[in-house]
Amino acid sequence: MNFNEFYQLVKKRFSCREFSSEKVPREMVEKFLRAGIEAPSGRNCQLLQFRIFDNPKKITELSTAVAEIKTKLGSPIFRPENFDPIFYAAPVVVFIGADRKSPSEWKMSDACFAAQNIFLAAAAADFATVAIGSARYFEKFPEIKARFFSTDFEILLAFSLGRPAGDLKQKAPRRDLQVFWEN
Ligand SMILES: Cc1cc2nc3c(=O)[nH]c(=O)nc-3n(C[C@H](O)[C@H](O)[C@H](O)COP(=O)(O)O)c2cc1C
Repeated sequence: MNFNEFYQLVKKRFSCREFSSEKVPREMVEKFLRAGIEAPSGRNCQLLQFRIFDNPKKITELSTAVAEIKTKLGSPIFRPENFDPIFYAAPVVVFIGADRKSPSEWKMSDACFAAQNIFLAAAAADFATVAIGSARYFEKFPEIKARFFSTDFEILLAFSLGRPAGDLKQKAPRRDLQVFWEN
């Protein structure tokens, strides 16, 4: 892959908020996650774990739980008209986390580096993703989180994955590059 092809891939990735219901083969999901574990990790700790949901009923329950938490926090739910305004009814939702007891101070950075690799891998195969930061709110409500996860799993980030519904390839516009060469 040359630089232009790589740059096209980077531009191709966008946050998808409307997914087709087409199932994603589990082997495919695991292929994308493998790109994630190629990402750098602080002190090479490689401590990320992936908890994956592909049962639509369970994903709806997760969405309802996050919406319940957001309501408790007084945090706005964007696009409430959407059937699933949290995970956008994606066929797959992945939670990236780590064992709460692992001492690394870089867990969150590790999760973000891994996520971007996964997102680009998915885009290369014409799948779409969206990061779901609000999934972290589960950490504020252990009793709600316990419906889905064990307490030792610390949620760092989640994302939805699937085929985009229709031709929705709209990436949010970017501000100008802010560059300051310091001499
Ligand atoms: C850490 C993080 C958390 C995010 N959380 C959400 C979220 O909870 N829901 C959502 O719809 N988008 C979420 N996004 C997606 C951003 O809104 C999106 O990346 C941004 O608008 C730029 O658009 P683009 O990804 O299409 O380039 C999140 C992105 C990041 C990096």
